[in-house]
Amino acid sequence: MNQLPKQGNRTGLYWLLFGGSLVVVFLLGLLVASITERRAEAIFAYSPKVELADFEPRNEVWGQNFPWQYESYRKTQEGDFRTPHGGNAMRDMLEEAPELVVMWAGYAFSKDYNQGRGHSYAVLDTRNTLRTGGPLAPDKGMPSTCWTCKSPDVPRMMNQMGVKEFYNTTWAALGHEHTNSIGCADCHDPKTMNLTITRPALVEAYQAMGKDITKATHQEMRSLVCAQCHVEYYFDRKRPGAEGAFYLTFPWKKGMSPEEMLAYYDEIGFSDWTHPLSKAPMLKAQHPDYEVYTTGIHAERGVSCADCHMPYVSQGGLKYSNHHVTSPLKYVSQACQTCHRESETTLMKNVYDRQNKVAELRHKAEKLLVHAHVEAKAAWEAGATEGEMKEILYDIRAGQWFWDHVAASHGGSFHAPVESARVMGKAIDYAQSARVKLARLLATKGVTNEIPYPDISTKAKAQAFIGLDMDKLREEKKVFQEQILPEWDKKAAERQSAMPLVNR
Ligand code: HEC
Ligand code: HEC
Ligand code: HEC
Ligand code: HEC
Repeated sequence: MNQLPKQGNRTGLYWLLFGGSLVVVFLLGLLVASITERRAEAIFAYSPKVELADFEPRNEVWGQNFPWQYESYRKTQEGDFRTPHGGNAMRDMLEEAPELVVMWAGYAFSKDYNQGRGHSYAVLDTRNTLRTGGPLAPDKGMPSTCWTCKSPDVPRMMNQMGVKEFYNTTWAALGHEHTNSIGCADCHDPKTMNLTITRPALVEAYQAMGKDITKATHQEMRSLVCAQCHVEYYFDRKRPGAEGAFYLTFPWKKGMSPEEMLAYYDEIGFSDWTHPLSKAPMLKAQHPDYEVYTTGIHAERGVSCADCHMPYVSQGGLKYSNHHVTSPLKYVSQACQTCHRESETTLMKNVYDRQNKVAELRHKAEKLLVHAHVEAKAAWEAGATEGEMKEILYDIRAGQWFWDHVAASHGGSFHAPVESARVMGKAIDYAQSARVKLARLLATKGVTNEIPYPDISTKAKAQAFIGLDMDKLREEKKVFQEQILPEWDKKAAERQSAMPLVNR
């Protein structure tokens, strides 16, 4: 009998438990609803606070609508992270490898070359580099095309002026128009926020290859927005309909490999400058980051630039893309461990190993190319003829091109280590080929002693060796910074204060 009342109690207990779970489920339901609501609120926060005008160049204005993306973008101002070959800090590449000064003699890169920093610095660094000099009048100095990969004011100005007109003036003439550093309007359509290509050179390069960029997939776009700037380019002075302009062009017509690009340049007889020591018709590779990346395993597996350099992060129940574009080694867990199970230490070691191995070949190639330039100079001085030098100079051109294709591809030795090593191998081969021919030629002119390697143990010594007057260049820059830059900023502030800001 004792059992029954107990059973009755139990039934009560079951009902109590049942009721209890109902309450718990109900409360859980409320919680979920509240989370969803928060999410909705978060998404609601996406709805514009200000109306973005077409071609709005100001990142802080976009930032009012998209605070998470903007705040993470602002971290590109950081400069506190160094890795053996990368990071976000300023690095003086000419000090790290003074050979470059001699290899680029006669070309502006021998004056000043720092490794890239965060996107927020693009305008400042372009203003300050000795490469842009100190133009005191708007008709002096570098072409306006130099602004093309620096600022979201570029699409605005191209729309206002016309594309070929944009390419047909000077850097100094458009200085006051380009004061916003790389940002939102470079990659996004202000009406839909879709990724978009704002630079005509990439669209035209696709057309030249018989491809249509509007057919690119969403995943491809997550790399192509970067390929607007992180690519090899040259200034076409003879483009039909835009003759004389410095028309920004990617040399992709035959393909994106260094061999195909070299064949393209050879065919059109293009060189960036003539080397003052060797007299070789030189090419300067300009950060072919995208081209080299496409040859690596990550590209092969469909991983995009944004997957590593702009990974998703979660904050307050909301997922957004980290706009702090920098070395992904600053946030390995977000950038790599979404796909890889290895520890942070292992992944970093994997990166450094690949970079160190390519760097080993790179430094060999640099020494050989310096040798080749100075030996060619000795050959000219010993009375060599143009006919005798022709093949040698081509070897130097090709060798330095292959070297630069790897050296200037930032991150390339990780993005595509096998390709980087292969191409560096070609650089070494061409440089050695030039030197074998030079030794033979010099011997026929009676020169059998070794041509001494110059003392270029520091950047200053190398710059003195090629005859650069660095004090003069620095003084010119200082005057420009003091006299011209405040004028640019004043004009820009006036123009921007007149730009409408419509609150919603
Ligand atoms: C409008 C041109 C432009 C676009 C678009 C662009 N970049 Fe850049 N990027 C630059 C320039 C210029 C610099 C160097 C800025 C400096 O040194 O002042 C740079 C620097 C960088 C750096 C070095 C940052 C550091 O902290 O050292 C990385 C990494 C990078 N870009 C990756 C990307 C990726 C990934 C994309 C696409 C999601 C992209 N960039 C899109 C022009 C561009
Ligand atoms: C170098 C190119 C680039 C620049 C500059 C850039 N974005 Fe993005 N943005 C991206 C990419 C890539 C994505 C991911 C898009 C996707 O996969 O759909 C993205 C995504 C977004 C999204 C969608 C939600 C998300 O986070 O994934 C918003 C909103 C956004 N960006 C706002 C901004 C704002 C605001 C700025 C300026 C402060 C900015 N972006 C600058 C490339 C860029
Ligand atoms: C979206 C996924 C994804 C992300 C993000 C990613 N990886 Fe990978 N990674 C892959 C795939 C896929 C492979 C090819 C391996 C395979 O298919 O077996 C690979 C291969 C590699 C390899 C071997 C490649 C070689 O050179 O032999 C290394 C090293 C590596 N990843 C490191 C990294 C590091 C470091 C990061 C972050 C900066 C990273 N990965 C981010 C997917 C990813
Ligand atoms: C699998 C991950 C991954 C992908 C995909 C990837 N990168 Fe990188 N990237 C890295 C790593 C790792 C480094 C080396 C960073 C270092 O040395 O600190 C790097 C370095 C760079 C650098 C030099 C940054 C520095 O610190 O100096 C640039 C610029 C760059 N990448 C641009 C790109 C572009 C553009 C794409 C797409 C075409 C791309 N990356 C695709 C992982 C990636």
